[in-house]
Amino acid sequence: MSNQTDFHVKENAETIIKEAAKLLCTPLQDELHIQTKSDADDLVTDKDKEVEDLFRTRIAEMYPEHKMIGEEGTGSEVNANKGTVWIIDPIDGTTNFVHQHYNFVISVGIYEDGEARVGVVYDVMNDEWFSAVRGAGFFHNDKQKKMAASGPYEESIIGLNARWLISKRFPRRAEVCRHIVRDIRATRSYGAAALEMAYTACGRLDGYLTMRVSPWDYAAGKLLVEEAGGKISDIFGQSLTFEGETSLLCAASDLHGTLSTAFSQSERE
Ligand code: IPD
Ligand code: CA
Ligand code: CA
Repeated sequence: MSNQTDFHVKENAETIIKEAAKLLCTPLQDELHIQTKSDADDLVTDKDKEVEDLFRTRIAEMYPEHKMIGEEGTGSEVNANKGTVWIIDPIDGTTNFVHQHYNFVISVGIYEDGEARVGVVYDVMNDEWFSAVRGAGFFHNDKQKKMAASGPYEESIIGLNARWLISKRFPRRAEVCRHIVRDIRATRSYGAAALEMAYTACGRLDGYLTMRVSPWDYAAGKLLVEEAGGKISDIFGQSLTFEGETSLLCAASDLHGTLSTAFSQSERE
């Protein structure tokens, strides 16, 4: 896609997002139909599915040659590295949505032959847009922003879910996380990975890290962070592969280096 085409696709993605957001503004009062998926923490509502269906319909109307992968099952057979693929999380932060917290977003990453071209994260209740087009920068609402260089480590504020401090599955990583919490200024947990990447891109967080995300969680956020001038990878500094679940770390370069080195070293000990 040319840069001009990317901007056009982004505008169309934003039009669909606005339509989808209307489905999500009212149900805070309505009764939601909530189901669990893999475990009690893994929720899906009728609204997640409605938003995903809306994207499937609109993309097929606008771009019949494009493919889509969505968290709720669309395109499970699609190869994210081939052709133009929209990777969508219809609601990132479903637990927040269900518990009537306001931090939930719609996340759309558009890839061409495995390369991110467009990323949009829309914070529905706060009406905030975070977006990027490859080579054209990161935008917070209409304002272009670049990430500042990392400041002193002890003054950092990092997005981290307390769950990872007590992880039985990853005891070494849990220990590194506890050191991080001890040594930095503060942690925050917003419960929506795409939003936490967007906050890192726009400077509200100095970084974000997690042990488990899926391609729809980071498809848009990856481009936002990169276009803002930051780094994004797994916690060991390896590239994200879009194959199944992965750990994730994003931050400005120096902080990213400090954190990925800490995780790599602890794994070798
Ligand atoms: C979840 C959120 C959460 C993250 C989980 C994701 P969902 O997405 O982003 O913050 O820790 O790994 O699965 O289920 O709300 O779309
Ligand atoms: Ca998600
Ligand atoms: Ca979701």
